[in-house]
Amino acid sequence: MQQNKKVFYITTPIYYVNDVPHIGHAYTTVAADCLARYKRLKGRNVLFLTGTDEHGQKVEKAAKDRGRTPKEHADLMVDNFKNLWKTLNITNDAFIRTTDDGHKNIVREVLQKLWGKGEIEKRSYQGLYCTPCERFWTEKDITEGSCPDCKRPVEHIEEENYFFLMSKYQTRLVEHIEKNPGFILPEMRRNEALGFLKNRILGDLCISRPKARLAWGIPLPFDENYTTYVWFDALLNYYSATKYLAPTDTEWWPADHHLIGKDILTTHAVYWSTMLMALDMNLPKNVFAHGWWTVEGQKMSKSLGNVVDPNEIIDKYGVDQFRYFLLREVPFGLDGDFSVNALKGRINGDLANDLGNLLSRALTMIEKYCEGKIPAYSFNISTEQQSEANIKNRFPIDIDLHMGNLQFHLVLFDIWSVINSMNRYIEETTPWKVYKQGNKIKLNDILYTLAQGLRIIAIYLYPFMPSTAEKIWQQLGLEKSFKGIDFDEEVTWGKDISGTKVCKGDVLFPKVET
Ligand code: MSP
Repeated sequence: MQQNKKVFYITTPIYYVNDVPHIGHAYTTVAADCLARYKRLKGRNVLFLTGTDEHGQKVEKAAKDRGRTPKEHADLMVDNFKNLWKTLNITNDAFIRTTDDGHKNIVREVLQKLWGKGEIEKRSYQGLYCTPCERFWTEKDITEGSCPDCKRPVEHIEEENYFFLMSKYQTRLVEHIEKNPGFILPEMRRNEALGFLKNRILGDLCISRPKARLAWGIPLPFDENYTTYVWFDALLNYYSATKYLAPTDTEWWPADHHLIGKDILTTHAVYWSTMLMALDMNLPKNVFAHGWWTVEGQKMSKSLGNVVDPNEIIDKYGVDQFRYFLLREVPFGLDGDFSVNALKGRINGDLANDLGNLLSRALTMIEKYCEGKIPAYSFNISTEQQSEANIKNRFPIDIDLHMGNLQFHLVLFDIWSVINSMNRYIEETTPWKVYKQGNKIKLNDILYTLAQGLRIIAIYLYPFMPSTAEKIWQQLGLEKSFKGIDFDEEVTWGKDISGTKVCKGDVLFPKVET
């Protein structure tokens, strides 16, 4: 097995197929795509995994309500996700379904191994069970007979079950989180996980359901009367996929980032980590829990009828516009609000006015004053002017830092500072006057600077807005594809692009009515 230093493995949660995708699903997947694209640009060997969580009570029930078998239901619903990822230009390298034989086999192997090692025990159990959430609660978690998560009534259940002996890893897990500040991010989520682990005695985890109660799951290899708890099955996807959906000449584990929403922090930080400890496997390098979107100031919910369908937004406003909004509007990690007005504001302001106009003005002037060819650069221009529009020295370092911290909004903020400084540069240098004065050398330098700046900006925009980046390159008369480009070479100012014939196309971002 080759251990390639440049491997980068990133995952999204696997989404339940009982429902259609909404803005929350799109959010995590777009963020993961942005990072995956960036790492590929930087030459890393990337595995980007997403997929669907298809077992368990919720899916069984949703299927039953529609008169289908769970598998029929999953087969139909999975396309909603696959199609949306296609529309959103998502470049996942693998798509896992927990009903894949490859996955089921690995779950059973893992269970057998843990059973063999004495990490699983059969016990009689009684507890309060929340069917929609598929989890047991203790008396003190419950308020007025309702589930603390979904607020629906819990049932009293008594049965024999299998337990993963999670409790014995409590101290080790606390130590791991304390020693590795980057393991759980952002910091408030790290503190939340530490608080959870330090303020209670961690129990063992019930990982089976009697088949009579729940048939739709992976049978335990050592007792076929039971199916596997859906979370135990689902979390293992991150590992199983590396074994049957990814090139096997590479060791992908441990993952670099698990991107998740804040509501599923405990399952990832606690269940998954202790499962890995029991398997003598490394923990993922990072679990990053992002915040939740409200919609026009309200909690998004089916009953309120305000669930944002990404397909509708994309049809109306465009793919890159939506991708941009998701990653620009809210710092990754915090909660945020989706509103049509905010989206329109970003489209008309940042995208149409700032970026779209910059490209269009630069190309119009190159067409008008330079016969449509990017002019030659004299290097005579005053450094003062040049640095105004240039991409500053610290820029690539800052971008890399923000990307590493998953602070997408800061990356975009920095890119926009350059875009805005280029717009100011046009105002200050007034190329139309320079043209009238007949100062050809100065005019060429200004227009070359704009074209060069736009070429480099497009590279940095590519992970966020891939089609837009390609359009910018195309209109500049450059190659269209970013695949396999040498990042470090391409982002240098020195790369000579003079003589290239530009090809002004449609406006990048049509304005929307407000
Ligand atoms: N199947 C589990 C995950 C298993 S991973 C091993 C699951 N699926 S889910 O489809 O219900 O949810 C997927 C993700 O959507 C979660 O990360 C959740 O945080 C996210 N979101 C649900 N509503 C959301 C918002 N309103 N805003 C942002 N993300 C939200 O949980």
